[in-house]
Amino acid sequence: KTICYTVGRPPWYNSHGQMKEAFLIGLCGGSASGKTTVAKDIIDVLGVPWVVIISLDSFYKVLSHEEHLLAEKSEYNFDHADAFDWKLACETLKKLKEGKSVQIPIYDFATHSRLDKQKTVYGASVVIFEGIMTFVCEELLELLDMKIFVDTDSDIRLARRLKRDISERCRDIHGVLKQYDKFVKPMFEKFIAPTMKFADIVVPWEGENKVAINVIVKSIKKQLEKRGFNFRADLITEHEGKPLP
Ligand code: CTP
Repeated sequence: KTICYTVGRPPWYNSHGQMKEAFLIGLCGGSASGKTTVAKDIIDVLGVPWVVIISLDSFYKVLSHEEHLLAEKSEYNFDHADAFDWKLACETLKKLKEGKSVQIPIYDFATHSRLDKQKTVYGASVVIFEGIMTFVCEELLELLDMKIFVDTDSDIRLARRLKRDISERCRDIHGVLKQYDKFVKPMFEKFIAPTMKFADIVVPWEGENKVAINVIVKSIKKQLEKRGFNFRADLITEHEGKPLP
């Protein structure tokens, strides 16, 4: 679920040829809280190019054979902090922050595994990093320029998760409910809910919240301006003085 919005010339070099730091937004919230929709709404209203959404899901660890058998029976804990490759996640985000290109693993929920191919992201001016535990790792927390928590009622999250896991992740109703009771709910209380205190902004979410999105976008734009991003000018070639196609 890595999504890139790109147009024209990458704007992360200033007029002296130095790289500008990417603006890194952490988007945290329980499973099926609507993190992806919030990220897309921010991007729509922000309306600047070279924005990328990276998902923490891409950094799920590769399972051993035994762990894989447990996952098939909904008995593997994907909601524990140890389920993620934090080292790789931090390295990747650091590189992106420096404006460098990165390879992002592609995760397949149906088979609980990484695909053989990876997605290349060629750098970005804004990176939205979304996931259930984006505020859990201290090293990663320090990289974030803005921290947003999506706060959605647990009944709504369970209903969404049931629908999604059955239709998109090849699960059955019994497996989804078993996993929810055994892992998703208790791990939310243990790992995710306590990290809400790290958020700069908590967004109450039931499908939309235009006021919150506008406030967030205003703040991002202000900070991008401070960093010298001028997207209109960056889309003009100095050589010809004409907009790039
Ligand atoms: N998970 C799973 N099987 C795997 C790997 C992860 O069921 N092989 C589940 C974990 O239980 C975890 C969830 O995937 O709770 C994390 O994804 P989630 O945050 O629900 O997905 P998003 O699409 O990012 O959620 P949102 O609706 O908030 O955008």
